[in-house]
This record gives sequence, C-alpha cells and structure tokens, in this order.
Amino acid sequence: MVVGEEQILGQVKDAIIQAKEMRTSGEHLNTLFDKAIKIGTRVRNSTGINKGTISIGSMAVKLAEENIDDLKSKKILLIGTGEAATLVAKSLGKRDYHFYVTSRTMERSKAFAETVGGEPIGFEEIMKGFSNYDVLFVATVAPYFLVTFDRIKDAMKNKENGMMILDLSNPRTVDEKVATIHGIKMMNLDQIAEMVDKNMRYRSNQKNSAEKIISEEIQVLEAHMKRLEIEPVVKEIFKDIDVRRSKELEKALRMLGETDESKVKIIDDLTKAIVEGIISTPMNNLRKASEQSNDDLLKAATKLFDYKKKE
Ligand SMILES: NC(=O)c1ccc[n+]([C@@H]2O[C@H](COP(=O)([O-])OP(=O)(O)OC[C@H]3O[C@@H](n4cnc5c(N)ncnc54)[C@H](OP(=O)(O)O)[C@@H]3O)[C@@H](O)[C@H]2O)c1
Repeated sequence: MVVGEEQILGQVKDAIIQAKEMRTSGEHLNTLFDKAIKIGTRVRNSTGINKGTISIGSMAVKLAEENIDDLKSKKILLIGTGEAATLVAKSLGKRDYHFYVTSRTMERSKAFAETVGGEPIGFEEIMKGFSNYDVLFVATVAPYFLVTFDRIKDAMKNKENGMMILDLSNPRTVDEKVATIHGIKMMNLDQIAEMVDKNMRYRSNQKNSAEKIISEEIQVLEAHMKRLEIEPVVKEIFKDIDVRRSKELEKALRMLGETDESKVKIIDDLTKAIVEGIISTPMNNLRKASEQSNDDLLKAATKLFDYKKKE
C-alpha cells in the first residue's frame, strides 16, 4: 500500500532465501524471485522511490534531529500513549534514543514502556514544569492545551538551551503562542504532515520511471524464463550424444589397441570437437527458438533428436 516501501522487498528476499534453504523452490521460482529482487533494487537505486520519510512518527523524530544538535545527549519527553505516540516511540526506539513517556495514568505509561519503549514518568510530575526537557513530542486528544504558554515561559526561565516542541495532536494540545517564546522551536501536525505529503508525492512521481525499468527488465526475464524451458531438452540431447560418442570412442580404441594416454587424449578431444562443432549451432538455435516462442521449430527439433520429456 505504501509506494517504495522497503519492508516488502526485504520480506520477499527472506522468503526466497528460506525456500532455497528448504529446497521448496525450483529453478523457475528462484529465477523469478532473484530477478524481481534485482529489479526492485535497481528501481530503488535509480529512482529514489524509497527515499524520504513517509511516517508521521519518523518525520517528527527526523525534524527533531535536524533542529537539535546532538539529540542523543538531550532529554526527550513523549506525552501520550496512543497510536500517534506509538509511531513516535517506535521511531525513537529504532534510532536508539532514550526518552521519557507519560500518560494520565501511570499504569498506561508503564504498559506502553514495556511494549513500545521509553521510561515511564508520572503525569503530575511533568505537569509541574517542563524545564528538565529539551524536546517534547505531544500526541494526545486532550480537549484543551496541555502545554500552555505560561508553562513553557516558566520552563524557559531556568533553561540555558532552547527547546523543541512537536505537536502531533489535531486539534492542537500545545498553545501556538508558545512558538513566540525565545528559544522555542515548534512544529505542529500540519507542518509535519506536509513534509510527509511532499515525500509521498515525490515517490508517486517516480512511478513512471519505475514502470519503465520494470518493462525493460521483464523482456529480459521472459527470454530467460523461456530458456529455462528448453534447457532440460538441450542438456538431455547433449548427454545422449555424449553417451554415443563415448561408446564409439571406446570401440575404436579397442580396435586400435591404443593405450598410450597422450594419444587416447588426442582422439578423445577430436571426437568431442567434432560433436560440439556439429551440435552447438542447432542447440543455440533451439535456445533462441525457445526465447522467441517458436513452437514449430521446437517441435521439429525435439522430433529430430527423438527427445521425449521425462515425467
Ligand atoms: N493515530 C494516528 O495515526 C495519528 C497520526 C497523526 C496525528 N494523530 C493525532 O494524534 C493525537 C492522538 O491520536 P491517537 O490516535 O494517538 O489517539 P489515541 O490512540 O486515542 O490516544 C490518545 C492519547 O491521548 C491521551 N489523552 C486523552 N485525553 C487526554 C487528556 N484530557 N489529557 C491528557 N492526555 C489525554 C491518552 O492517554 P490517557 O488517556 O492514558 O491519558 C492517549 O495517550 C490526535 O490528536 C490525533 O489527531 C494521530
């Protein structure tokens, strides 16, 4: 559902690796999957269709990274333990950030911390003041401003460094006026969502280039898949001819009474060269006929070489 989603390609890779290990996929599936993975990688590398954050949570964290120096050393607080807070927490966790999480009930904060991450902290405690924190992510459905102008003004009195506030709530739960306080950087959901939309649009615009690459590669893949059909026939014919060659060679060597290794090798090489010289062109033409779906030629060739498909 998400254009350029990375996870899907990873899942496809894992699936075929597992199938190969368990020997549940054959030559056709292996070829198809290997090629699909190669095409997927080529599409991503040459179009950048997978570039740019497209999750609200990851975008909020990215913005904090871009606006705050050395975010790892800063105190981060997440207010909220619902779905939006989960997106932020997952993104923080993925990037190894330590953060505090709070909700109106300590039980919810603790449960959230256990499942999604973060260090739980009491709601009353943080409501006393935000001066301990450098970054606030706010994702609640409170019907009033949780983060008010006065609270932040107070917090900034005791702070040497600035503070970044990212309000993911809609309607807002951080008073917009907070942005006017010196040292405050603020971003709301509309601004975060707009950046996500921009990245989505960029990805969507790459679809045509991606489709062009896919159609080019599909032709190569189709030819390759068709060759897979004929390969067992070619192999069988070569094998059959080589059995005959070896038999005739043995017979001739017996008649000659030849045992000198270097002479036997010369005769052996001679028979191989004759066989290959005669058979390689028709075999290559057979491969081409298969690629071009020339069924009449395929039928004629299999009849001429008396090839019978093994069940
Ligand atoms: N879901 C999304 O994908 C998504 C994406 C972008 C933005 N948003 C926005 O993010 C906000 C939260 O959405 P959500 O989907 O995470 O909702 P949710 O799953 O229902 O979670 C709501 C959160 O708000 C807290 N909360 C509710 N009433 C509160 C109050 N009076 N004071 C303090 N905290 C309160 C709840 O915690 P306690 O009840 O434990 O305190 C809970 O943590 C919404 O404004 C939504 O529009 C959501």
